[in-house]
Amino acid sequence: MNVLAFGTSNSRNSINQKLARYSAAQIDDADVTLLDIHDLEMPIFSEEREKESGIPQFAHNFYQAIGDTDAVIISFAEYNGSYTSAYKNLFDWASRIDMKVYQDKPVIMLATSPGSSGAQSVLAAAKGSAPFFAADVKGALSLPNFFDNFDVGTGQVTDEAFNKQLNEAINKL
Ligand SMILES: Cc1cc2nc3c(=O)[nH]c(=O)nc-3n(C[C@H](O)[C@H](O)[C@H](O)COP(=O)(O)O)c2cc1C
Repeated sequence: MNVLAFGTSNSRNSINQKLARYSAAQIDDADVTLLDIHDLEMPIFSEEREKESGIPQFAHNFYQAIGDTDAVIISFAEYNGSYTSAYKNLFDWASRIDMKVYQDKPVIMLATSPGSSGAQSVLAAAKGSAPFFAADVKGALSLPNFFDNFDVGTGQVTDEAFNKQLNEAINKL
């Protein structure tokens, strides 16, 4: 199975990227592509820009990467209760190619933050809107208190409840 995994942050040291990488690695025999959305940075979307210059190649690359994979693992970073501007911009551009950005792929949605809320607000927003964007959500999991529940040295989640839920979601892919 091909798996596309990414965190929705343009931070070079993203904890969500770490969680996405770890989670994809739990899938037996998966061929994992780890996407860094920092590499797909584009001008902020506007309808005028789209009319003047069209949809940037990076949006096509992102849409194509989803189209080419069997399953997607996304870990959502939360800024002020919502999406990071980096991911929102990428997603807005991609949605101009096709509103069904996730192209009916099975998706595991994750979210983490250093705090006790575990970025649940953005996760709920992403899960709630998933049907509009053709994401077949197989699981939505938050990992709170990242630095208590993730061993940065080994790159492993240490919270057993999360690992159990993750395995259940993976089994649905
Ligand atoms: C502008 C800004 C707003 C933030 N807002 C939230 C928030 O609403 N909820 C939360 O749990 N963490 C919030 N955080 C903390 C992030 O969860 C933390 O920076 C985390 O590392 C972001 O994920 P990343 O490392 O994958 O980029 C915020 C951080 C920044 C810089």
